[in-house]
Formats: sequence, C-alpha cells, structure tokens
Amino acid sequence: MTTIPDLFEQMAYGPAPEDASAAHAWLGNHEAVFGHWIGGRWTSPRRDFQSKNPADGALLAELSQGTAEDIDHAVRAARASVKAWQSLSGDQRGRHLYAIARQVQKHARLFAVLETLDNGKPIRESRDIDIPLVARHFYHHAGWASLIEDELPGSQPVGVVGQVIPWNFPLLMLAWKVAPALAAGNTVVLKPAEYTSLTALLFAEMVHRAGLPPGVLNIVTGDGATGRALVKHQGIDKVAFTGSTEVGREIRSVTAGTGKALTLELGGKSPFLVFSDADLDGAVEGVVDAIWFNQGEVCCAGSRLLVQESVAIVFEERLKRRMQTLRVGPPLDKAIDMGAIVDPTQLQRIERYVEMGKAEGGVCWQSDVVLPSEGCFFPPTLFTGVESAHTLAREEVFGPVLAAMTFRTHDEAIALANNTRYGLAASVWSENVNLALDVAARLKAGVVWVNCTNQFDAASGFGGYRESGFGREGGVEGLWAYRRATADLPADQGLSPDPMPEPLAPREGRTLDRTPKLYIAGRQVRPDGGHSRAIPSPDGSLLGEVGEGNRKDIRNAVEAAHAASAWGRVSAHGRAQVLYFLAENLEARSKEFAARLLDCTGRDGRAEVEASVRRLFIYAGWCDKFEGAVHQAPVGHIVLALPEPIGVIGVICPDEAPLLSMVSLLSPVLAMGNTVVLVPSERHPLIATDFYQVLDTSDVPAGAINLVTGSKDLLAQVLAEHDDVDALWYAGHADLGGMIERWSIGNLKQTWVTAGQRNWSDPTLGEGREFLRRATQVKNLWVPYGE
Ligand code: NAI
Repeated sequence: MTTIPDLFEQMAYGPAPEDASAAHAWLGNHEAVFGHWIGGRWTSPRRDFQSKNPADGALLAELSQGTAEDIDHAVRAARASVKAWQSLSGDQRGRHLYAIARQVQKHARLFAVLETLDNGKPIRESRDIDIPLVARHFYHHAGWASLIEDELPGSQPVGVVGQVIPWNFPLLMLAWKVAPALAAGNTVVLKPAEYTSLTALLFAEMVHRAGLPPGVLNIVTGDGATGRALVKHQGIDKVAFTGSTEVGREIRSVTAGTGKALTLELGGKSPFLVFSDADLDGAVEGVVDAIWFNQGEVCCAGSRLLVQESVAIVFEERLKRRMQTLRVGPPLDKAIDMGAIVDPTQLQRIERYVEMGKAEGGVCWQSDVVLPSEGCFFPPTLFTGVESAHTLAREEVFGPVLAAMTFRTHDEAIALANNTRYGLAASVWSENVNLALDVAARLKAGVVWVNCTNQFDAASGFGGYRESGFGREGGVEGLWAYRRATADLPADQGLSPDPMPEPLAPREGRTLDRTPKLYIAGRQVRPDGGHSRAIPSPDGSLLGEVGEGNRKDIRNAVEAAHAASAWGRVSAHGRAQVLYFLAENLEARSKEFAARLLDCTGRDGRAEVEASVRRLFIYAGWCDKFEGAVHQAPVGHIVLALPEPIGVIGVICPDEAPLLSMVSLLSPVLAMGNTVVLVPSERHPLIATDFYQVLDTSDVPAGAINLVTGSKDLLAQVLAEHDDVDALWYAGHADLGGMIERWSIGNLKQTWVTAGQRNWSDPTLGEGREFLRRATQVKNLWVPYGE
C-alpha cells in the first residue's frame, strides 16, 4: 500500500478526472443523435456520421450530414428573421447577446466538459481558457450592439452570414464568428467542423432557451460538402471562414464575382524569436504555451523557434528538461498538460510530417512521456537542425511539433521570421525594450506578442497578413467585417459610360500630341512592347496616344513599388507634406487639367479638378489622424492596435471622372504608406499621363507611384496574378471585378472590388474612413504593462 510518506517521496500525480456525467446526460437526453438546428428547432435527426472522443475512440453521438436542401432551409430561416432582427434597437440586440453570455457562464462546466470530450483538449484549457473567452466575447459584443450605430457610422449590416469553423477551438471559434455577426445586425448559418459539432449544438439549444429569436442563429452539421453548399448558396451575403489555406483558396474562388463579402482566417507558421538577452526560463514557458497548448492544434502556434546562436545550446537543454515534465494523457484529467489529437486523420497527418522532417535531415527529439495505449496521442516533439527549405519550416503541421533554428544577428532573425508565405502571429522574447519593439515593428504578422504568447481578448483584433488570410476577428476591426460601409456598396449612380468612337484623324487645327510614356520608378519609360494606343476624343478625332503597357511593364512597376517601401516608414507628417504638395501643384495647373478633361470627355472639367485638389487635401489631413487604438487587455498587458500599410497596392481606375476617381483611389493608398501600381482609366488615360509632371514636382519618392497605361483587362489580370502585389483595388464593371477576385487566389491578396459606376464627387461615396481602412491592416502588438 502506498503511504503518505511514499507519496511525498515520489511526488507523483494521482488521477484527477473531471466529472463528465452532466455532458453524457445531455447527450443521453438527445439519445445521442442530432438533427440540425434551424429556425429555432431541431430537424429530424439522422445517423449520417459519428462524433467520437479522440481520447478513447468512444462514440459520443451521431449527427446529420447537411445537404444542399438543409443549407437552403437554414438560409431561408436566417433570411426570414433578418428584418425583425435588424428592426430591434441596438440595445435590444445587446440584451440578447448579454443573455447568451450569461447562459454560457451559467453552464460553463457542461460546455467545458463536452468540448474536451469531443475535441480531446485538456479540461484545464477548455475550462480556464476556451469557455471564459467565449463568455467574454459575447459580453464584449453585447456592448458593441448598443454602440454600433454611433461608433460605426455610414455602415449597415451585411445581411445573412454563412460561417464555417474548424475543430481546434470549436466553441471559441463559434463565439468569434457569431458574437460580432449578431451584434452588427446580421443573422447566421454556421457549420461547425465535422469532428467537433457538439458544443455548437448545445449552444444553439442554450441560446434558444435564453430567448434568441428563432432563425437568427442556425447550425447545420456536416463535412466539407456541407460547407461548400453553404459557401455557394446564393442567399448569403457574406462568408466568414476559419480553416486551412487550401480550403480558404477554394472559398475565395467560389465567392469571386458573387458580390459576397469574405473574410478568411487561415493557417500560419508563426515564429517564436528568442534573443540572447531574453529571460530564458520565461521564454521556455512561452514555448510550452506557444506549441504545446491545445496539442499544437492552433493556427497561431509558435511552431518555428528561432533562437540566437549564443544561447541556443543552453536554451535547448532547458527546453528539453521542461518537455520531460509535460504530462500527456486523458484530457478530462485536471492535471494533464496535453490531451488527445482531434482525430486519427489528423494524428496520421502529424506523423507524416514528422517522418518527412526526419527524412529531410532534421533531428527529432521527443520526451520520454508514456502515452496512453489507446486514443490519438502524440508526444511533445522538438526538431533541431531544421533549415529554411525544410517542410517543417514551411508547412503548418497543426500538432505538437516544434521546428528550431538559430540566428546570429538581429537582421537575420527578422529575415528568417518573415521568410514564410504566412503572417498570422509572432512572439518576440528580449529584455531589451528597444530591441523587442524594433523587431515587432518589422515582423510581417497580424499579431505580435512581446514576452508573451497566445494571448487573446475580445477587444483585440486577430487575423493575418499574406496567406494567413484577410479580415480581423475581435475588436472594432472585426465588427467592421460584419458591416457594409456606404463606400463599399455596389454603386450605380446612373452615370452612363461615355460613348467613345474609334479615332480617325487629329482634330482640325490640332497637331498630334506627344506620346507620353509609362511612369515607373519616378521616370518616364517606354512601354516594353514598343506599342502605343490611340486615344480618341468624344468627337472621334485623335486626341493623342499612350504607351501600351504589358506584363513586363507591370512586373517592373511592382519591383519599383517594392523598392520604394521606405515610403511606409516616412513619418505621417512627412507623408502629409507630400500630399499637400501634390494638391498645391495640381491646383496651380488646374486650368490646364480642366482643359484636358474637356478634350477627353467633352465635359467642363473645372469642378472635377477642384474636387480632386480638395480630395488630396483631405487625405493629407488624414495622414496623421487615421490612427490605431490602445486596448486594455487582461492584466499585465496593453495591446497596441496599429494600422500598418499593406504594401504594394494595385489600383485599376474606372472611366468615370477620370481625374477625380484616380486621385480618390491613389491618395488614401499613399497617405497610409503603401506604394502603388496604378492603371489609369483605359478610356481617358491622358489625364493621368499629364499627372506625371505634378508627381515630378511634388517630392513623391521614385517608385511610390507607378502608372501603367493600356488595356484594363490585361493589366488587371497581371496585377491580380502577381504574387508580390499585396492588395488590389478595382472600381468598374462587375464581370472584370469577379475575374480579379478569381485571379487573386495565388497569394490570397486582399481585393476591394466595387462594381458599378459611382459618383466620385459625393464625399460619402468617394472618400473617407472606408478607403483608409482598406489601405491598412491592423497589427495587434501585445506588450507587458503594469505588472
Ligand atoms: P479544413 O480547412 O478542411 O476544415 C475547416 C472547416 O472547413 C471544417 O468545418 C470543414 O468541414 C470545412 N470545409 C472543408 N472543405 C470545405 C469547402 N470546400 N468549403 C467549405 N467548407 C469546407 O481543415 P481540416 O481538413 O480539418 O484540417 C486540415 C489542415 O488544415 C490541418 O492539418 C491544419 O493544418 C489546417 N487547419 C487550420 C486551421 C486554422 O485555424 N488555421 C483550422 C483547421 C485546420
């Protein structure tokens, strides 16, 4: 018999299982078989697929595979309820969200246990992290529901939203999606992941009990086919997706040209940087939270460890020592650190990656932990000797596998950290505040944690750069993703396109203009193909010719725009000075521009020039006023939400109001520190080529603005397919807009496509915050504060 002194001697953990009877009782009440939750009631249950406990393989419940008809039924229910939901006051909607938050708190233990049974995550995490954050999300957004009309002026709800979520944080991902959607006045059809549907179903039942009107939230279970049917359904206005980059690409392609709003929260390969002056023991604990939290099944897991060479050996030793103490086992045990991998398929995927890592020359080290003989378990794993080209340094494993590399200098650390197609998150560890903040500023990631990791809060946005997706969840940025701004609405102001005849000959009394070239890297350059295109005046006479830009010209322009990235580091005051100068110089030549507009369009151009000058002034003013926010994060941190430039933005200008529309698109892009490759109006490009001289005299750095004239369709395709273009704006015909969205899937660039013609002189449509928001992406920087 083990005596108390023996126990003191061994200090071994005894079993400390959480009681799962309430969760089993709930399943039992449903006879462990579920339908969908549509319009406030269950559909007839079907035994189409099973949800199992990954810790022991036991069957938990049988579920219905959502068909296209089920999705249609759910979308109709959401559509039927949207008007009544939107007619509630913000306060009333807020009260519903508040009631949901209370309901989650009242049944927190049931939710936590059910989550752990279904997903395999340790009860310690579902109880202390997932479920409290779910409640926090609904409380936070209850407040937003009341404030939204005042705080998000010039916007309206999107309508019916289709949401597809993954299995790694089932209820938390539901909360991240449902809370802002409802607060913003939308109704929802949500599809949980096929491995982990149960807490979503419990949630549906609970919120019904809390009085949420039927149809406002609908849950349809099923696998990717169900998700595909939802995404494709014509009755939804927006898709919000979290999951793999591969599926994200498919969804981008399916929604292209449909007018559906889209946000994607995709994968990552986030770096965890340890500098030699870091608190190494603190950093070791950080690594544990970064990669062994939730078995590493975390989109923002710090799965690439980058350690400064001078401390690499000692760090590795301490890390291995700590790994030996991690306990892997039954997730319902309250003293377990790592639970089960969600499903055998995912376990096999992790095993394959580990084998690949070994085959490619990485050195694999695993702790001596004894895994349970049954269930989906995998030990904490460390790979050293990993190189940048190795699969483990590039691909998301989504498991407890850490790939370690070393660096020597500060610059090398940043280069390695940014050497990824992703950009979801990063952690920086250094006791030197100058170093840590300098590195944080240079990392290309949507969230950067300084001396901490995997911190989340409803008030702080979360989301990626690059192929980690676009859009944010949480914070006011996340709320905007569920609203349509006035400037974002399909605009058709009844402006008819100018009928432009084929050019015949120079108009009488006019000598043929010079042929302007393209404007790349601050210089006028001849088009690569050596071709020009004739530009007719409204009466059909030949007004002039412009260079016919091609693929190579766009490539050169993109290169020039990247080389001018220092523009993004110019102070806001400095950028404002350049925009003021542009405005001043345009104003000085206003007569000339007005005359040119008359020649090009046959319309008096004076008002358009005046409005263009004004717009430049407005954005010069915005440069140092469109700022970020400071969030009061949970104790010990503040979060700086910083709008950063996106990078190189392509802009395809429309034909209406050729000067004003060009200036309206160009100025916010420039004001926020991006560089631009702009395709001027195809019909009236001469107004843009005249603009070169204004650029030349206004201190615009070479390469910050590049203009390529020519065929809109051809140049749009090249820009959309170019992997070094970070975002693309297009205003014009819907057909080309749809193609642009489809062509952009290569690097998942952000696209802003507004179809139809717009009245650019109307400030509610042609300028404002929406343009600035579209020209920036928020980096949320968590820094220690106050503790
Ligand atoms: P997945 O991306 O296939 O699944 C995520 C969700 O999308 C699930 O609800 C699924 O049913 C749904 N889905 C699948 N195909 C769809 C389609 N064509 N249209 C609409 N919805 C669709 O991820 P999966 O297969 O579960 O995991 C594969 C890998 O993806 C993981 O190993 C991991 O690397 C990554 N992943 C990343 C996540 C993240 O948060 N970044 C979350 C889940 C997986």
